[in-house]
Amino acid sequence: MKEMVINTVVKVCSVDELSVADREVVDAARAATANSYAVYSHFNVGAAVRLADGTIIRGTNQENAAYPSGLCAERTTLFWANSQYPTLPVEVLAIAARTEQGELDKPIPPCGACRQVILETEKRFGKSIRIILYGAKECYIIEEGVKALLPLSFDAGFLE
Ligand code: THU
Repeated sequence: MKEMVINTVVKVCSVDELSVADREVVDAARAATANSYAVYSHFNVGAAVRLADGTIIRGTNQENAAYPSGLCAERTTLFWANSQYPTLPVEVLAIAARTEQGELDKPIPPCGACRQVILETEKRFGKSIRIILYGAKECYIIEEGVKALLPLSFDAGFLE
């Protein structure tokens, strides 16, 4: 039997080590957490994307008393960005979270459903998205896009 090995490369750095351009997207995601509607989980998530023309769009998690009707910050952000700017590729996505105790030391990764939506956004523009996960003590940078977080993924190619 053969084995298939799938590697994921994650760069780890402190927020101070980020480039000015990356820092801007990360700071937008951090600021966005203030607008999170997380009255049930009290887990405030902010996301921000930088589009190909430099526009930065932010979004937050939006919860609902009917729990599954809520949506994560990553998807509100991507859906809004893609609705408003359907021809502008998404180049960078940053994610940050905060609880009542403040910002989290470690980054939070996107959930499975958000990974699938990130994948669709990459496919639609034919461009991978650099993903930056913010934590107060360390940040993770995934340079190669969501395929690093969603190996063996299902995309439109299988429908052909
Ligand atoms: N959440 C996000 O917005 N993004 C993630 O990547 C993980 C989880 C939200 C969903 C829910 O509102 C709250 O965090 C707790 O799961």
